Amino acid sequence: MSQKAQFREVPEPETPHLDFAGTTPYEDYVRADVLTHLQHLLSDDPGEMVFLVTSQVMELWFTVLVHEWETAAHALRADDVPTAINALKRSVRELEALNASWKPLARLTPAQFNSYRGALGEGSGFQSAMYRRMEFLLGEKSASMLVPHRGVPRVHAELEKALHEPGLYDEVLRFLARRGHAVPDAVLRRDVSRRYEPSPEVEAVWAAVYAGGEHTEPARLGEVLTDIAELVWRWRNDHLLATRRAMGAKPGTGGSAGVAWLEKRARQTVFPELWTARSYV
Ligand code: HEM
Repeated sequence: MSQKAQFREVPEPETPHLDFAGTTPYEDYVRADVLTHLQHLLSDDPGEMVFLVTSQVMELWFTVLVHEWETAAHALRADDVPTAINALKRSVRELEALNASWKPLARLTPAQFNSYRGALGEGSGFQSAMYRRMEFLLGEKSASMLVPHRGVPRVHAELEKALHEPGLYDEVLRFLARRGHAVPDAVLRRDVSRRYEPSPEVEAVWAAVYAGGEHTEPARLGEVLTDIAELVWRWRNDHLLATRRAMGAKPGTGGSAGVAWLEKRARQTVFPELWTARSYV
């Protein structure tokens, strides 16, 4: 028998289908044609493209994060902890991807940023409604953040709904109360349209949760929420650093004091008692 005859003939791999009457099924699903034609530049500067696309990419990640945290909040309401933890774990990876997208903007020089900054007019990420939805879910509620969106009914309505719904942390604390933890009534029945204020009793609840071992559902929930809080803090600080490099102490396009205002914002602590309780474990 010849050497060749020992091998079976391998058929050529099928090539993908080429023939579609209308749009491709990929286009129908991904809407790539829409997505890749949304880059309406405001200046002639070649560096503006990556600034715009990074902002759009971040908006898409904000949208995914809102989806994951809403999924987790609904699951917790139904005491479905595995679904909640899965969504929160996905969101940790997504936050890492979001934060990695700072790379192309992290080291802009003032001259580079100046090349298109003027063209942005009063436009600022401060006016991002999806970022506010994220903050609302994290307990950082503020009715005044609805004001910039008064002129856009759909956006305003979505934000208003989110303002009046319990945030992710509210659902976590209600879940812990149902599991027998001593979350005070005042916290459980708080006005959820207002910013969450830290409470010593909730801090004691988390200390008790951690004292109960690291593998319980509440403790695993506590750790994944801490991951989220850390990564949100990192996003804020990466934004602050990028801003400081790109424009020093100049005022922001959105009308704030710029870096000084962002420094104050970056000091906010997400899920505060998860951090302070660590001193008592
Ligand atoms: C190097 C580029 C950037 C600079 C220099 C910059 C600068 C600023 C400044 C000065 C503010 C304060 C508000 C104002 O007066 O405008 C701000 C707010 C904000 N920016 Fe940026 N930004 C940059 C990139 C981005 C990108 C890519 C995003 C993603 C969407 C973004 C999202 C935000 C958000 C969400 C806020 C509001 C923060 C809060 O309310 O605490 N920024 N930015």
